[in-house]
Amino acid sequence: MQNTELPMRNAPSALAGFTRTYAETNPPWDIGKPQPPFIAVADRIVSPVLDAGCGTGGTSLYFAARGQQVTGVDFVEEAIRRARAKAEERDLSVEFLVKDAMTLREWDRRFASVIDSGLFHIYTGEERQRYVQGLAHVLKPGGRLFLFSFNDDPAWPGGGVSRQELYDAFADGWDIQSLELADGEVNPAFEAQFPGEFADRKMWFAVIRRKECPAARPTRGRPLRGPCAKIQVQ
Ligand SMILES: C[S@@+](CC[C@H](N)C(=O)[O-])C[C@H]1O[C@@H](n2cnc3c(N)ncnc32)[C@H](O)[C@@H]1O
Repeated sequence: MQNTELPMRNAPSALAGFTRTYAETNPPWDIGKPQPPFIAVADRIVSPVLDAGCGTGGTSLYFAARGQQVTGVDFVEEAIRRARAKAEERDLSVEFLVKDAMTLREWDRRFASVIDSGLFHIYTGEERQRYVQGLAHVLKPGGRLFLFSFNDDPAWPGGGVSRQELYDAFADGWDIQSLELADGEVNPAFEAQFPGEFADRKMWFAVIRRKECPAARPTRGRPLRGPCAKIQVQ
């Protein structure tokens, strides 16, 4: 008999839930290419690019095929194994790493663009703050975050994310350049296994610029003030 219980439900941790989802389903987000809004703004996504929570790499590989230098990170080993296999099959050079996005704050890498296709909305509270600080840390000043997230339709797992929550999360040191509702695509194999679970719901698509901060320049020991001080990682 077909299993109709979503493996994310009742999982002991997010890692366990995502690991089970990759093992037991064709995940709903795994459409083999970027979600449509990323394709619409593809010209603005410039190297070096970080794909945070890259899954099996459909988005990373699309931008690598366009000539961008892409690093994809995900904490599920099986997702990264599949992503690497696809890169090899297509003879594309992409760096895929098993990495927890909660550790971005401690990473010594910097990117001009960050793609987040379905990761931000997993976090709430302190975890969300920590993740946003990590994004501020890895994005070069003036760099852009391209974010595709659940909206506040309460039917989304976790209750979704409201417009105000997005503005609050990116209040200090960021400039939300655009925020709109957009259609997402669902993997047809998942839709067949779990009919109607994720269909016909809008998502947020935002382009969010990391403000230029004096931290990028020598400060001669003076303490930073304003938004740049707040996004500094101690
Ligand atoms: C909704 S899926 C989207 C996957 C991919 N971006 C896509 O569009 O196909 C979210 C992804 O984030 C990954 N993820 C969740 N929490 C993570 C964390 N703390 N660190 C790294 N990856 C994480 C999951 O394993 C999953 O692959």
